[in-house]
Amino acid sequence: MSTSDDKAKEVSAEADVSAEAVDEVETASPPKVNEKKQDNGGLGFIILFFIIGLVGSLAVGWWIFPKLLYSQKKQPIDFNHVLHVGTVEEGCESCHYFREDGSFSGVPKLAQCVDCHEEVMGEDPEELKFVEEYVAKGKEVPWLIYSRQPDSVFFSHAAHIKMGKVDCVICHGYIGESTHSRVYEENRFTGYSRDIWGKNIAGLKKNTWDRMKMDDCAECHAENRAVPKTVETLPWPISWMPRPYEKPASSQIRVHIEKDACFVCHK
Ligand code: HEC
Ligand code: HEC
Ligand code: HEC
Ligand code: HEC
Ligand code: HEC
Repeated sequence: MSTSDDKAKEVSAEADVSAEAVDEVETASPPKVNEKKQDNGGLGFIILFFIIGLVGSLAVGWWIFPKLLYSQKKQPIDFNHVLHVGTVEEGCESCHYFREDGSFSGVPKLAQCVDCHEEVMGEDPEELKFVEEYVAKGKEVPWLIYSRQPDSVFFSHAAHIKMGKVDCVICHGYIGESTHSRVYEENRFTGYSRDIWGKNIAGLKKNTWDRMKMDDCAECHAENRAVPKTVETLPWPISWMPRPYEKPASSQIRVHIEKDACFVCHK
């Protein structure tokens, strides 16, 4: 046993020696090669730090910042539009209609639901909650309004739907065709809904309903003014000939975008 142990020691000692020899060879090798190696290492680190920094700031900007900026809230009741549009008689207007005075009813009041929901009809836990917590107690559901504008903004549905003939989807997206209420996001600083300034942190907009900032209102107003429907669409045989009508003066234009027209949209 002891002899084999000694042998093992000897072997390891020899190995140490050869390792030292290798070290010596390496230090003896020309210094240029070593410098080059170090340089590469330095550059690698710089690139690495750059990537970490980039990924880090992207994560902060695109993911963490929006999470911090907006708090998420669930609607008190999950509402199924598709199911209801199928059961009511007049589609959207059964619940979202214009009153006699031309004002828009907005989100329906409890009174519009009780005819059907006096008692629980089905197995749906959301319906049970709705009937027990609101219908039975005669309490209005505190719905969160995705499109809610600041109090200083004046918006009339009649001007847009009746006169402007603008479709709900252009401004609201496909809420009327949804089976669940989506999450409501509230800006922690302003208290405004995220639907006003939009989902995209960089301010990009793919659909007309992605955002409803001042510029978005004005953008559509400008487009509508550019083509006064009744006049400009008349055919005229020779394009350079003077037309038998005048371009409307800005005072005649119903849809305002001018800087002096703040009080069209603000109160
Ligand atoms: C049975 C009643 C009912 C009918 C019918 C109905 N809705 Fe609604 N609607 C509601 C209720 C309740 C809410 C609030 C809950 C929510 O936002 O999910 C709402 C919310 C909305 C909103 C969100 C407004 C906002 O900014 O928060 C839009 C847009 C909307 N409805 C459009 C439609 C359209 C379009 C139709 C027809 C295709 C329709 N609704 C049919 C009851 C109804
Ligand atoms: C024309 C009748 C009718 C009216 C009006 C009506 N509902 Fe319903 N509702 C139904 C039917 C039918 C169901 C399906 C019940 C089942 O079988 O589960 C239902 C289901 C529901 C449910 C459970 C499914 C879901 O949407 O998540 C909720 C919550 C609800 N209704 C809320 C409302 C509210 C709020 C109003 C008023 C704005 C309303 N209902 C108006 C007929 C009606
Ligand atoms: C030109 C854009 C536009 C169109 C078109 C439009 N809306 Fe709106 N809607 C808005 C804005 C902006 C608000 C928020 C108004 C406010 O905060 O004063 C709103 C608010 C609402 C609300 C919530 C109101 C409340 O206070 O309860 C409902 C519900 C709604 N719209 C439904 C509809 C339906 C249904 C249609 C189609 C028939 C429609 N809207 C068409 C822009 C539009
Ligand atoms: C998709 C197009 C569109 C969008 C988006 C839109 N509007 Fe309009 N708006 C119109 C049209 C079209 C009219 C003109 C209706 C008419 O008088 O014939 C109008 C009219 C108005 C009027 C009445 C102007 C007047 O002189 O009587 C006000 C106020 C107004 N819009 C405010 C807003 C506000 C605030 C927003 C944004 C929250 C908005 N609009 C977004 C198309 C739009
Ligand atoms: C086409 C309609 C429209 C016109 C015209 C308009 N605004 Fe606005 N304005 C809005 C809407 C919608 C908002 C809310 C959304 C936002 O912050 O962009 C707003 C928001 C604002 C805010 C921020 C208010 C807040 O509570 O956050 C200020 C300040 C403002 N507008 C000033 C002006 C001034 C000054 C003018 C005239 C030069 C003007 N606006 C003309 C639609 C309009």
